[in-house]
Amino acid sequence: MENILFDAYKSKNLDFKNRIVMAPMTRSRSDNRENKATELTAKYYQQRATAGLIITEGTFISPEAVGVINVPAIYSPEQIEGWKLTTEAVHKEGGKIFAQLWHTGAYSHPNLHNGKKPMAPSNVNPQQQVFTAQGFQTSEEPQPMTTEDIKQTVNDFKQAALNAFEAGFDGVELHGANGYLLQHFFEKIPISATTNMVVQ
Ligand SMILES: Cc1cc2nc3c(=O)[nH]c(=O)nc-3n(C[C@H](O)[C@H](O)[C@H](O)COP(=O)(O)O)c2cc1C
Repeated sequence: MENILFDAYKSKNLDFKNRIVMAPMTRSRSDNRENKATELTAKYYQQRATAGLIITEGTFISPEAVGVINVPAIYSPEQIEGWKLTTEAVHKEGGKIFAQLWHTGAYSHPNLHNGKKPMAPSNVNPQQQVFTAQGFQTSEEPQPMTTEDIKQTVNDFKQAALNAFEAGFDGVELHGANGYLLQHFFEKIPISATTNMVVQ
């Protein structure tokens, strides 16, 4: 069979130099006050821009979406500016890059929300280990979302997508897997991201 992995690929709106796609991987390197992508982020992705398409590490859409420390976000002007370094660096190499938009839902901890409970579709505690500034903490009962909370979150995803285009991204991917917020809505009860076991 003909090997087409290194052949260019033309989609409706984008031209990719080959068919290699780098999967999203959390790097936890945004240990700065603004939770923004930095020169280090840009260098990391530039070094990997021989792939036709890079999907970034999960990137928080709002302060409410946060569920790990040191992960970059894309809701503030400073964060948009930070990501511009990365998109410019990748484009310089002829690569394309999509932002992965992330809301962790119940897989979070009050330590990451000034003591407030993180939001989720129900109050079921997923019993996850959550990486906070105070070290690993076991998740607690989340705050069930109201209809207004859900509408606000949909809007946050929309705004984050608009911010991503302002930052120069070629597209976005919604993080709908691994047991985070969007997947909570597809499951009757939360599943564990690390073990794929149902939490009773
Ligand atoms: C260190 C690490 C961080 C990851 N972070 C993310 C992430 O931010 N978003 C996501 O959707 N998947 C994430 N993943 C999952 C990977 O994208 C991928 O789906 C997973 O490693 C399975 O692919 P593999 O079988 O080729 O290893 C992560 C995986 C690893 C190992």
